Amino acid sequence: SWTTSSIVDDQVAAVAAQIGDGRAICGLSGGVDSAVAAALVQRAIGDRLTCVFVDHGLLRAGERTQVERDFVAATGVNLVTVDARERFLNALAGVTDPEQKRKIIGREFIRVFEQAERDLKAQGDYRFLVQGTLYPDVVESGGGEGTANIKSHHNVGGLPDDLQFELVEPLRLLFKDEVRRVGLELGLPETIVQRQPFPGPGLGIRIIGEVTADRLETLREADAIAREELTAAGLDQEIWQCPVVLLADVRSVGVQGDGRTYGHPIVLRPVSSEDAMTADWTRLPYEVLERISTRITNEVSEVNRVVLDVTSKPPGTIEWE
Ligand code: XMP
Repeated sequence: SWTTSSIVDDQVAAVAAQIGDGRAICGLSGGVDSAVAAALVQRAIGDRLTCVFVDHGLLRAGERTQVERDFVAATGVNLVTVDARERFLNALAGVTDPEQKRKIIGREFIRVFEQAERDLKAQGDYRFLVQGTLYPDVVESGGGEGTANIKSHHNVGGLPDDLQFELVEPLRLLFKDEVRRVGLELGLPETIVQRQPFPGPGLGIRIIGEVTADRLETLREADAIAREELTAAGLDQEIWQCPVVLLADVRSVGVQGDGRTYGHPIVLRPVSSEDAMTADWTRLPYEVLERISTRITNEVSEVNRVVLDVTSKPPGTIEWE
């Protein structure tokens, strides 16, 4: 629309003026905000922008490809991927406490990202750091009681940084729906622009119990099936998000094929919400639940039971940890 294209033009001009002939770094999380911020800055300064994507191994199936292939194809952006999967697994070994997991993931993320910043600074005059801060983030960080007080949230944005950067925040005045329109205007694919929220700590806080490579693989498979079926049923716009949770320390008896099994439950947590501060559990059609359940128990070894979370927020939070 006219307004969206004028927002794009204004912000591209503002970013070009701010950065001049300098260079900028932008961390990509796989989420909408950082992708749109990066695409805007790319429009303004071209290959003087370098994006950094940290693969912490806690991503869902296909997320790394979506950044490395689809985002790059849509924008032509310079991308550095840091493969930190081993490092995160090692740091999380033996840890079961949710807050401790969040702190470890946040801390490791900052360390890995800062190392990438140092490496880039050694190669060129990178003086600017792009962040996908939105208007509600600006307002919220001015104080107030958000979910941030209940769980320590970790994002690509808001990194404490001892390296000297000037911040570039081209989405500072925008709300989420405007950011999505700007993303489409910039040619980003629907799969990126319409993506549902996904927490920074990723699958690490959707495994109840210790995070291991095998458990991540199990959860990744179950999550991919649930997402595939929800998309096929045309429900993506209806639900806010649907965390899929692995109860890794729980086992129950089942019967599969001609044998007894002793496997883990998978929890489906479909929620409807306006802003994630409150949420209602989504009344998914029984046929869709049945397809997800049948496929997960058939296709994912180690899982012999699928359960549905019917708790609103409050009292439950959306994520289990
Ligand atoms: P809760 O579990 O607090 O989640 O009801 C509210 C919303 O926030 C997302 N979430 C996070 N997002 N970093 C994020 O970027 C985080 O650490 C984080 N923890 C929760 C959650 O998916 C839901 O949309």
